[in-house]
Order: sequence, then C-alpha cells, then structure tokens
Amino acid sequence: MTPSRLPPGACRTLFISQLLICCLLSLGGQGQRFRLRLEPQDPVLPVGGSFLVNCTTDCPQPQLINLETSLSKEARDHGVGWAAFLLSNVTDDSQIHCSGYCNGSQIATSSGITVFRFPEVQLAPLPPWHPVGDNLTLRCLVTGGAPRARLSAVLLRGEEELSPRRPVVGEPAEVTATVLAGRGDHGANFSCRTELDLRPQGLGLFQNTSAPRQLRTFDLPATLPRVEAPLNLEVGTSRPVHCILDGLFPASEAQVQMALGDQMLDLIVTSHGDKLRAKAIATARTDQEGVREIVCNVTLGDESRQARENLTVFSFLGPFLNLSDTNVTEWSTVNVTCTAGARVQVMLDGARTPPPGKPAQLQLLVNESDDGRDFFCNATLDVNGVVLHKNTTVQLRVLYGPRIDRAKCPQRLTWKDRTTHVLRCQARGNPAPVLRCSHERSGLVVPIGIPLCVNLTYNGTYHCKAASPRGTHTLLVVIDVQSRSSLSVSIVMVVLAVVGLVAVVVALVYIFRMQTQSGSYYVKQQGPSVPLTSMQSEETVGEEAS
Ligand SMILES: *[C@@H]1O[C@H](CO)[C@@H](O)[C@H](O)[C@H]1NC(C)=O
Ligand SMILES: *[C@@H]1O[C@H](CO)[C@@H](O)[C@H](O)[C@H]1NC(C)=O
Ligand SMILES: *[C@@H]1O[C@H](CO)[C@@H](O)[C@H](O)[C@H]1NC(C)=O
Ligand SMILES: *[C@@H]1O[C@H](CO)[C@@H](O)[C@H](O)[C@H]1NC(C)=O
Ligand SMILES: *[C@@H]1O[C@H](CO)[C@@H](O)[C@H](O)[C@H]1NC(C)=O
Ligand SMILES: *[C@@H]1O[C@H](CO)[C@@H](O)[C@H](O)[C@H]1NC(C)=O
Ligand SMILES: *[C@@H]1O[C@H](CO)[C@@H](O)[C@H](O)[C@H]1NC(C)=O
Ligand SMILES: *[C@@H]1O[C@H](CO)[C@@H](O)[C@H](O)[C@H]1NC(C)=O
Ligand SMILES: *[C@@H]1O[C@H](CO)[C@@H](O)[C@H](O)[C@H]1NC(C)=O
Ligand SMILES: *[C@@H]1O[C@H](CO)[C@@H](O)[C@H](O)[C@H]1NC(C)=O
Ligand SMILES: *[C@@H]1O[C@H](CO)[C@@H](O)[C@H](O)[C@H]1NC(C)=O
Ligand SMILES: *[C@@H]1O[C@H](CO)[C@@H](O)[C@H](O)[C@H]1NC(C)=O
Repeated sequence: MTPSRLPPGACRTLFISQLLICCLLSLGGQGQRFRLRLEPQDPVLPVGGSFLVNCTTDCPQPQLINLETSLSKEARDHGVGWAAFLLSNVTDDSQIHCSGYCNGSQIATSSGITVFRFPEVQLAPLPPWHPVGDNLTLRCLVTGGAPRARLSAVLLRGEEELSPRRPVVGEPAEVTATVLAGRGDHGANFSCRTELDLRPQGLGLFQNTSAPRQLRTFDLPATLPRVEAPLNLEVGTSRPVHCILDGLFPASEAQVQMALGDQMLDLIVTSHGDKLRAKAIATARTDQEGVREIVCNVTLGDESRQARENLTVFSFLGPFLNLSDTNVTEWSTVNVTCTAGARVQVMLDGARTPPPGKPAQLQLLVNESDDGRDFFCNATLDVNGVVLHKNTTVQLRVLYGPRIDRAKCPQRLTWKDRTTHVLRCQARGNPAPVLRCSHERSGLVVPIGIPLCVNLTYNGTYHCKAASPRGTHTLLVVIDVQSRSSLSVSIVMVVLAVVGLVAVVVALVYIFRMQTQSGSYYVKQQGPSVPLTSMQSEETVGEEAS
C-alpha cells in the first residue's frame, strides 16, 4: 500500500500519473460535474490473482475512457459510459487510474489494489533437552505474508496461547515468547500461529500454524548419586553394587554408567517415580588388585552427575598346608608348612607365629599316636580394618604296627562246654592288620567278635596273630573249655531222686490212713510227675547260669 513498498519503476509511473491528474483536475471545469467511478473500489485480492475492473461514468457522452496501470491490462468490453478491463498477475499493491473526457473536459479517478499473501510460519528448533526451572525462549519465524498491518502471530503450547498476539515486523519476522519450563512441559507440543485478519475487507480470518515441535524438559538434582559398594572385594569374587539417585525427572530417561576402575559394568536400571536405581555385579580381576574406584555416572538431558567410591580389590590366597610326606613311617621326621599370599598372617598349631606373609613351620618326629592327626592352619588378612579368616586342615598318616593291645585282648578265658560266647580281641596298626586266632595244634580258628557255641574241641592254647604289610604280632590266648562235671550232675540227680522217693512215701502213708478211716480211697495220678518237672527246670536254670 505504501509507495515505498512498490518497485522503483512503478513509483515513478505513479508519481507522474498523480501529477497529471492534479493538472487535469485543476484544468477541469464543466466536466467536473460528472464523475468517473472504478468498480470495485479498493479491492483486496490474493497474490497472482486477476480481476475485472469497470470504469463507469454518468457523463452522457464520455470519450476515451482509459485505465492507467503498471499491471498487465486487457480491455474486455465497453458500453455507453463504461469500459471494463481485466487486470491479471497482481503480485503487489498498486494504484490504478481511470480517465476520460466528458463534454471536452477530462475526468479521472483512482483506486488502490491491495494484494494479500499467506505467510510461511515456523517455530525455531527447540533444544534437545531443556532444564526445568529455566526460561525457554520460543522463536517464531514468519516469512512473507501481506498485508503486514493485518498480520499477527502468537506462540502456542498445544492450543494454549502463551502471549498476547504480536505484530509481525521485519522480513523474516521473529516473534518470541518466554516460558518458564516445568515438568509438565515435558512432551508438550509447541507451535506458532499467524492470523491474517481480512474481516474488514469482507474476506475473513486466515490462520497459518507451524509444524509442532516437542519439548523435552529434565530435572537433575545437584546432589550426587549414592554409590553402595563393599569396601573390599576379593579377586575372583562377585558382589552387587548399587547407584541410587532420587529426585530426577524423567527418571526413566536417565542414562547410567558404572565402572570398576576401567571396567564398564553391566547394569540393571529401574526407576520408580523420581527414584533411579542401578544395580551391577562387580567381579574383581587379578590385574585390578589395589584401590580401585567405583564410578557411577548419571546423565539426563545434557547434564550428568558423577559419584565415586573407593573399593579395595585384594587377593587372599591360601592357607596352603603342606606335609613333607603324608604317609610316613613311625619315628621319621615330618615337616609341616603353612603358607599363604603376601600380607597374610598364618598361624599353625604348635608352631611359632611368623610375621605376615611368611610361612609357619613345624618339624616333628612322628609316632603312632600321630596317625590321623589333623594339622590346622589359620590365615588372617586385614583389609581396610576388616579381618578375614580362612583355614585349612591336613591329616597325617603314620604307618606302624601291627600291635595287639593286651588290655583289649584277655589272655585267659574259661568257658563251659556247650555255652555261647564271643571272643573279643583287637589289634592296631596302619595299614589296619588282619587278626586271626588259631589253635596251636589243631589250627581250629575262633572267629573274633562273633557269637560262638563252644564245645570241648575249642579247649586249648591259641595263637592270635595280627598281620599287615608292616609285619606281624602274636599273642597267646588260652581258652579253657570245662566239660559239664558228671559228679555234680550225679549229685543233683541223687538229691532229686531222694526228694521224689520221700514225697511218694509220705503220700502213700497219708492215703492209706485216710482209707482206713473212711473205707474208700483215690489214686492221685499226677502226683509222682512233680519231681520230674522240677528236675528238668533245674537243668535249664543251670545252663542259663553258666
Ligand atoms: C459496467 O458498469 C455499467 C454501469 O454500471 C454496467 O452497465 C456494465 O454492465 C458494467 N460492465 C461489466 C462488464 O460489468
Ligand atoms: C506474473 O508476473 C511475474 C513478474 O511480475 C512474471 O514472472 C510471471 O510470469 C507473470 N505471470 C503471468 C501468468 O503473466
Ligand atoms: C457542454 O459545454 C457547453 C459549453 O462549453 C455548454 O454550453 C453545454 O451546456 C454543456 N453540455 C452539457 C450537457 O453540460
Ligand atoms: C524468567 O523470565 C522472567 C521474566 O520473563 C524472569 O522474571 C525470571 O526471573 C526468569 N527466570 C529465570 C530462572 O531466568
Ligand atoms: C558420564 O557419562 C556421559 C555419558 O556417557 C559422558 O558424556 C561423560 O563424559 C561421563 N562423565 C565422566 C566424568 O566420565
Ligand atoms: C580414594 O582413595 C584415594 C587414595 O587412594 C583418596 O585420595 C580419595 O580421596 C579416596 N576417595 C574416596 C571417595 O574415599
Ligand atoms: C597313604 O596310605 C593310604 C593307606 O593308609 C593309601 O591309601 C594312600 O594311597 C597312601 N598315599 C600315599 C601318597 O602313599
Ligand atoms: C625338614 O626341614 C628341615 C629344615 O627345616 C630340613 O633340613 C629337612 O630336610 C626337612 N625334612 C623333610 C623331610 O623335608
Ligand atoms: C585364627 O586366628 C584368629 C586371629 O589371628 C583368631 O582370632 C582365631 O581364634 C584363630 N582361630 C583358630 C581356630 O585358631
Ligand atoms: C574354617 O573355615 C571354614 C570355612 O572354610 C569354616 O566353616 C570353619 O568354621 C572354620 N573353622 C575354624 C575353626 O575357624
Ligand atoms: C564241636 O563243635 C564243632 C562245630 O561247632 C563240631 O564240628 C564238632 O563236631 C563239635 N565237637 C563235639 C565233640 O561236639
Ligand atoms: C583242656 O586243656 C588243658 C591244657 O591245655 C588241660 O589241662 C585240660 O585238661 C583240658 N580239659 C579238657 C576237659 O580236656
């Protein structure tokens, strides 16, 4: 609309034509009674459009009605008092002038043409992450668009307008709005909208909206993550380590890295609300011995927080308990040595306590009582004030024997014929000896530890012989088997016979007396069997007693 916006050529033409009109008007006179009209007056049309303009007058005999314009013009039609022209390819605002003659006087009129054009609108890219609590400036870039006076822009969060509508100034024009980013803005869509208000021109309100851009906000507290790790870790062992951080948003988007020294750890990361928890299993390698750092690095948005904790990787070797020989013969010397890794203190039963890292030694002359003896070695290591213990035992085998214990093997036994007995006898030795008791003449073997029904053939002297690869040991055992004495049996028989006889006699006398008094008598048939029964039971009792 303003001359300054027209191309220089058009400007000059306009100036000249305006000058011309001024002169003509002043020269006017009679013709001034009649006027020229342009239809439509002051049109508003889309860029590149074309339109028909009608130049009319009520002058009865007008002449030379013409249209002056910098636009491409085509005379379309004319009639009495009018002429129509088609103006095409209207790209800029301009002025058109219509002139003619009426009754010898020149008449003229003019009209402005306003072109409207929709702008291109876009929202400047947002930062990939924006911290919560920081002001975010949204920039809307508007290019083109006309007429600018009727163009305004506004920034939007979703459909919410973030500021009053602002005029669009400059080319390209920038319209900004500042918002304080909050957690609620995470994932929000921002866009920019322009409005070309041509309602006064009867054309309506035209809106153009930029493509939306999504904002990601984050909140990473200034506090450092908490690393939960053991103070000490033995080489080759595994322990869980944790890294915990609270109050971060959005916790699920945080990146966590943990390392033991230069070794990255595999993590399992979980988040609950604003709390982030990472877990890893740290395994110490041999080459990591010493003080190492557990590093936890939490990254959110473009910021990260890092926490470190010291961890001592140690190795605790041993204790290794060594015997110079595990199978030794009696009365030989055995060296017992207990060793362990550097800085490890060992303690061996019966040996002097060496300084840490040095072996403990014991030299001993072994006898049979050392067979099966356990040597115990105790190792301790102090790692950062934590005292760790390990122990080991080793058993010594002493080869000796065979030997029969006199105390455990009775040398004289007196048994009765046809009674049951167990021969108990033990022999010692390593390797364990075989013990066998055989009759000195008949070679009859008496099983040891097994119940045996003895008879007179077992009477005699036995050679009890313990035998092992290490030799033999013999002990004499006398078993005296006593035959059941015939004299004692006879005495018992005689006594029983006498008692039986007396009983029969007493019974007969009694019955005889009763018969003489009453004239009748009975014979008690079971009476005489009584002594026989008692005789049997006597024998049983005697057997059990023996
Ligand atoms: C131009 O205007 C006149 C008078 O108003 C009218 O008679 C004529 O039809 C118009 N011509 C066109 C092409 O509209
Ligand atoms: C419209 O005008 C422009 C320059 O002003 C020109 O480049 C274009 O070819 C014209 N279009 C038509 C259809 O005449
Ligand atoms: C035309 O002009 C002459 C004088 O120049 C005047 O006498 C005449 O009345 C005019 N005609 C009309 C229709 O006005
Ligand atoms: C954000 O901008 C407002 C003014 O727009 C200002 O008052 C406030 O202090 C700013 N806040 C921060 C954190 O920069
Ligand atoms: C923490 O991790 C991030 C992302 O991997 C990395 O860019 C940053 O350098 C790390 N910080 C340190 C101190 O290692
Ligand atoms: C870790 O140990 C080093 C010395 O080895 C020490 O300087 C540092 O302060 C320790 N770090 C922590 C977190 O204790
Ligand atoms: C030690 O003796 C036992 C039997 O007492 C035997 O089994 C083992 O093989 C022997 N070991 C050695 C190393 O001689
Ligand atoms: C035991 O150790 C001593 C020295 O401590 C050594 O002289 C001896 O030969 C060793 N004996 C055996 C059986 O290794
Ligand atoms: C092992 O050694 C530690 C300290 O050196 C001691 O407290 C502990 O009682 C020892 N254990 C045995 C079984 O000797
Ligand atoms: C020896 O170590 C074992 C584990 O290896 C342990 O169970 C036992 O209690 C320890 N014995 C002593 C006496 O310290
Ligand atoms: C004694 O007992 C053995 C077996 O137990 C038997 O072979 C033997 O005949 C018996 N001798 C006598 C005299 O009963
Ligand atoms: C049993 O043997 C001993 C001698 O070894 C002998 O004196 C005794 O008479 C024997 N007894 C019998 C019943 O043969």
